[in-house]
Amino acid sequence: MLKIENIYKAFNPNTANEVRALKGVTIDIQEGDFVCVLGTNGSGKSTLLNAVAGSFYVDHGSINLNGVDLTKMPEYKRASQIGRVFQNPFSGTAPDMTIAENIAIAAKRGKTKDLKKALSGNRVSEFVGAVSSLKMGLEDRLENPIGKLSGGQRQALTLLMATWLKPELLLLDEHTAALDPKTAAKVIELTKAIIERDQLTTLMVTHSMQQAVNLGNRILMMHNGKLAYDISSDEKKHLRVKDLYALFDEIRKKEQMDESVANIISEQYI
Ligand SMILES: Nc1ncnc2c1ncn2[C@@H]1O[C@H](COP(=O)(O)OP(=O)(O)OP(=O)(O)O)[C@@H](O)[C@H]1O
Ligand SMILES: [Mg+2]
Repeated sequence: MLKIENIYKAFNPNTANEVRALKGVTIDIQEGDFVCVLGTNGSGKSTLLNAVAGSFYVDHGSINLNGVDLTKMPEYKRASQIGRVFQNPFSGTAPDMTIAENIAIAAKRGKTKDLKKALSGNRVSEFVGAVSSLKMGLEDRLENPIGKLSGGQRQALTLLMATWLKPELLLLDEHTAALDPKTAAKVIELTKAIIERDQLTTLMVTHSMQQAVNLGNRILMMHNGKLAYDISSDEKKHLRVKDLYALFDEIRKKEQMDESVANIISEQYI
């Protein structure tokens, strides 16, 4: 379904500021997989999602979705198959436009032409139904600009818009990280309900071990630009939060060992 084959990405290559953010990542995602992506800060999680979405082209390797090679396809073309929600509630919506206008644009795959037609009677009642299903008290506020809403309301709407046309792939990058715990839990419930209802293939980056244990059927753990662990459906069934902490500890220990070996080697050459 989604085949990521040995991808590499370096930012500011061949400069003093070079960062090798992805160093040979291979992942095969099946249709209907709901994958939680974990990893320490800077391990390459967002870079992985951005590579799939086409925010940049990878330096090496390939990305294939449903048999179509996306590797050199521009971001705007991939957007017709890929829905995204980011950490920042201000991303992904047009703040000065109303809730109804924003949904109308999402329903037309980003095309603003014929917006009036898209806002005609039938469609608006469909929007009201969808917005009330969010249970965020927004159904009477369809004419309000999105910019006036709280972060949680915006994230719920962004999620609704990103999934309006049932994308082939849904990418969620810490989309509840900026919300208070109660609102985050609400948006997570909504996320789960939409993914289950539409059987969406999903990659969700999170720092919450609890979310990773509770949600989805697979966990990927990134470290230092590489895939450190791939926990499959069967293994995940028995997994608990403390097991995930133990895996993180293992990664850390291995890194310390690698560092001390590197130090010993470099000392020998001084
Ligand atoms: N546009 C960019 N220009 C330069 N460096 C970048 C850019 N984007 C990411 N990086 C670097 O690439 C590395 C991986 O970053 P990335 O954002 O993928 O990490 P992450 O796992 O999402 O971390 P976090 O949990 O903090 O969001 C980091 O060292 C980061 O500083
Ligand atoms: Mg990130």
